Amino acid sequence: MCGIVGYIGHQQACPILLKGLHRLEYRGYDSAGVSMINEHGELNVYKAKGKVADLESFLTDKDDSGTIGIAHTRWATHGIPCRENAHPHFSSSGTLSLIHNGIIENYASLKEKLIAKGFSFVSETDTEVLVQLIEYYKQEHKSNLLSAVQRALKQVIGAYAIAVLDKNNPDEIIAARKSSPLAIGLGENEYFLASDATPLVEYTHRIIYLNDDEIAIINRHEGLRCVTIQGELVDHEVSEINIDLGAIEKGGYEHFMLKEIFEQPRCLLDCMRGRISSDGTEIRLSSVIDHGKRLINAHRFIIVACGTSWHAGLIGKNLIENFCRIPVEVAYASEFRYSDPVINNNDVVIAISQSGETADTLAAIELARDRGAFVYGIVNSVGSSIARNTDTGAYIHVGPEIGVASTKAFTGQVTVLTMLALCIAKERNTISQEDLESALQELLLIPDKIEEILKSNDSIASLSRTFTYAHNFIYLGRGYNYPVALEGALKLKEISYIHAEGYPAAEMKHGPIALIDAEMPVVVLATNKKLYEKVLSNIQEIKARQGKVIALVIKGDDVISRIADYVIELPETTDFLYPLLASIPLQLLAYHIAVCKGKDVDQPRNLAKSVTVE
Ligand code: G6P
Repeated sequence: MCGIVGYIGHQQACPILLKGLHRLEYRGYDSAGVSMINEHGELNVYKAKGKVADLESFLTDKDDSGTIGIAHTRWATHGIPCRENAHPHFSSSGTLSLIHNGIIENYASLKEKLIAKGFSFVSETDTEVLVQLIEYYKQEHKSNLLSAVQRALKQVIGAYAIAVLDKNNPDEIIAARKSSPLAIGLGENEYFLASDATPLVEYTHRIIYLNDDEIAIINRHEGLRCVTIQGELVDHEVSEINIDLGAIEKGGYEHFMLKEIFEQPRCLLDCMRGRISSDGTEIRLSSVIDHGKRLINAHRFIIVACGTSWHAGLIGKNLIENFCRIPVEVAYASEFRYSDPVINNNDVVIAISQSGETADTLAAIELARDRGAFVYGIVNSVGSSIARNTDTGAYIHVGPEIGVASTKAFTGQVTVLTMLALCIAKERNTISQEDLESALQELLLIPDKIEEILKSNDSIASLSRTFTYAHNFIYLGRGYNYPVALEGALKLKEISYIHAEGYPAAEMKHGPIALIDAEMPVVVLATNKKLYEKVLSNIQEIKARQGKVIALVIKGDDVISRIADYVIELPETTDFLYPLLASIPLQLLAYHIAVCKGKDVDQPRNLAKSVTVE
């Protein structure tokens, strides 16, 4: 949700800023802009509608020199995507330029006050209000930039990560954060600023994460200093972040999404490494070792998440209830935070988030913690806000996910939830050692089984060509497969813009069956051994209405295979592990349909990967 980048040092800023914007483009990509102060002390701002590549073309004949600069890639909130609304925004006098990720909720009342004081505005954004407010305090109190930023931020209600340049001080960037992420990379006499670590790791592994209500003053000569909005000096631990550069590049694949789908066997091994013994007899999660009592004695788990992570949460509910015999509720974080939930000291809230920055999930955690719950995080991005704001947790360790539609993060989340459920069950004695071992040994085989499924990529690609005509899709599954049906449908709508719905298979007769005709493809997850006959009946009902059935079956199934129009075979495993296998062909199906339709798979319209606003 908007990416911000900054640089100050001895190198030319613009190439570093543009590369950084490319790395952050998954956060938003409707317009982009840069601002540098050149050696003559001129503050230049260049902006373009569209992607970072459009900004690069726009810059070809411009003076983009300067060793200090800030840059932004936008996901529109206030005002349509256009050059005027793109960041950086100038203050009226043209002395300040500012980039912003977040939402200034009281921008309208601040704007009115500024208009009454003679300020005029060229954009519809909340961000321009902030830069004008800073300018106002600078003029009114004849203060330096830092004091003006502090005064302005005290007036602001909302979320922000900002960076400001002042033409009159070409040796300093001021940056601040509240509820939107901001990382500072420490180089040799140079500093880098970004919404997350991915643009920084190319230059440095030493990173500081700014906390809420903190301001960083980054001076070319004096180095970095951090203060609170109130002006108290704060110290920061420097984190060593090691992200392999290859992990944030396409590595020969046509799209990040395809690369990330294919990475899943290795990612899930990484996720299990050090947690499950290689012979599958033991499981250890450090969070359960350190906080065993709190987790084992929980009266209830409440899982909060958004989007794909919420679907993983639904699978987590089944896993924890089945193995641990503890009740689990799953809530959309956005609903939970405003629902005045009943929470007790014995509750454990599990927050699931790939990015670790989702605003609603962060707010849900804060609410849960205020009401006495213990908070467990399942997060991918190391050092992210959610990771830092939970009592304990487990990283999923699947590496950076760049494609906006989540794939490997989902299977990573499900893997961690599986391990967590088994680990707690072991401690609670709700699983026998024998059953635990057979579950772990089966889990260890999953990466190889995914590898096998990936071999059907070409046949799924050709199957996908058949369905580019479709305007609607239905996905059906039961038990553990029901959330997979929801996730399959979400994947398809996100990247192909085909309307798709997921249902528990037995619910079809209560409404969705009315939609079935010869034009309607129905994906049926038919791997559920206990309910096989029931799912088979559902397929018969669809066929009786001329629906087109794409069935996911266990290898060797010759009953459903004969009835369904198209069949995708999955290797055999136990019921509770099918989500990890069944997700893979559904990801490939969505991917190939979107590619056939010529859609922008990695950066689908209107979406953003890291949703740091409400
Ligand atoms: C956005 C993304 C989804 C993601 C959701 C939750 O909507 O486009 O792919 O599932 O946010 O994100 P999180 O980072 O908290 O898992």
